[in-house]
Amino acid sequence: MHMSTSLTWPDLPAAQQPPWPDANELDAAVGELRRLPPLVFAGECDQLTARLAQAARGEAFVLTGGDCAETFAANTADSIRARLQTVLQMSVILTYAASLPVVKMGRLAGQYFKPRSKTIETRDGVELTSYLGDAVNALSFDPESRRPDAQRLLRAYHASGSALNLVRAFTQGGYADLRQVHAWNQDFVRDSFAGQRYEQLAGEIDRALKFMHACGTNPVEFERVEFYAAHEALSMDYERALTRIDSRTGNPYDVSGHFLWIGERTRQLDGAHMQFASTIHNPVGVKVGPTAAPEDVAEVVARLNPNRIPGRLSLITRMGAGQVRDVLPGIVAKVESTGIPVVWVCDPMHGNTRESSNGYKTRLLDDVIEEVSGYFEVHRQMGTIPGGIHIELTGDDVTECLGGTGGVEEHNLHERYETACDPRLNREQSLELAFLVADMLIKR
Ligand code: PEP
Ligand code: CO
Repeated sequence: MHMSTSLTWPDLPAAQQPPWPDANELDAAVGELRRLPPLVFAGECDQLTARLAQAARGEAFVLTGGDCAETFAANTADSIRARLQTVLQMSVILTYAASLPVVKMGRLAGQYFKPRSKTIETRDGVELTSYLGDAVNALSFDPESRRPDAQRLLRAYHASGSALNLVRAFTQGGYADLRQVHAWNQDFVRDSFAGQRYEQLAGEIDRALKFMHACGTNPVEFERVEFYAAHEALSMDYERALTRIDSRTGNPYDVSGHFLWIGERTRQLDGAHMQFASTIHNPVGVKVGPTAAPEDVAEVVARLNPNRIPGRLSLITRMGAGQVRDVLPGIVAKVESTGIPVVWVCDPMHGNTRESSNGYKTRLLDDVIEEVSGYFEVHRQMGTIPGGIHIELTGDDVTECLGGTGGVEEHNLHERYETACDPRLNREQSLELAFLVADMLIKR
């Protein structure tokens, strides 16, 4: 596939852009990015749009999971495999319970940029640029680490390429074969309550597969899974440099990932991010928080999906457990009145962040469950389709979110609090959530 890079962009205000200290360094990095090969292909993006269209119609369910902020340090085989396993396990739970295909996406291979409420972080009277993601600066609190360094854009590209390569090998090379359903249930999680419940389900799948085999059928569909890379399109320098014209169709695609979303802080109607998302032909998402005006969301939908393509646009609502039932109906009603198809996805993480009494940024699994449950209820009442969930999770045994049968309590938070940004569900909490969502999905 040949892809050219000749695109020009209007000069619009772009929120949340890093304060790059050296324009020449930035130009050099962007110039190099423009010459590097695509990480994903246009045809794969179109395939994902078609899958998401199924979700919009209620014939599939979307599961997006991964880090709040990926780090170069965690770009290892073990860490990537553990995250992939978690999503695969959750997906099996959902598929088996609801007899629905699951569209699997990772916040992975590109989730290296973070928007921040405060551009400056102050500790003990020292002021430094906030951590803006590994593609921009480093987490540790010293002037050298926090200086935005444009070379990091290139590191982010290469890290994404190697992560995606591993994901492709795992998902196409036999590791994600449904006959491996037990093997994904590794180590600590196998002994947990949710892990045991999963083990039982895996046993049932095994028996079904053996039965089919004995009957003389062994479908190749079980050998491979489709897995798509998603991240927030935040840095306009990075995403524009990786946007190419697909010679097959003449359409521009952002080849840094299959699915790109616009965050709650950058969805200004007259801003650069909206214009960018309206230009690319990838499937896109927009986060929608509790303060969004229904008219504005309807305008977003009209701008991003004027051709009314099913699967093109996901609205990822993140209202908070306490507000979802009050706020979501107005938005759903207004958007539905446009007649433009969207995939309604629930992010039950970002409206439910709080500080623990011992000073950690955390989330309660109960709030996460409560928001998903409110989301299903609202869509049932409105006659619309709850199309998927978007979760911050990790494959490891971290202690960042509170609750679950594993019983992470405030006094445990310090044990394995490893996130570079927001608190993630650990493997066990993720499986537990999947079992509960599976029940809601059956009844939707
Ligand atoms: C995120 O997804 O990590 C994020 C920052 O979300 P939001 O834009 O919804 O706040
Ligand atoms: Co986050």
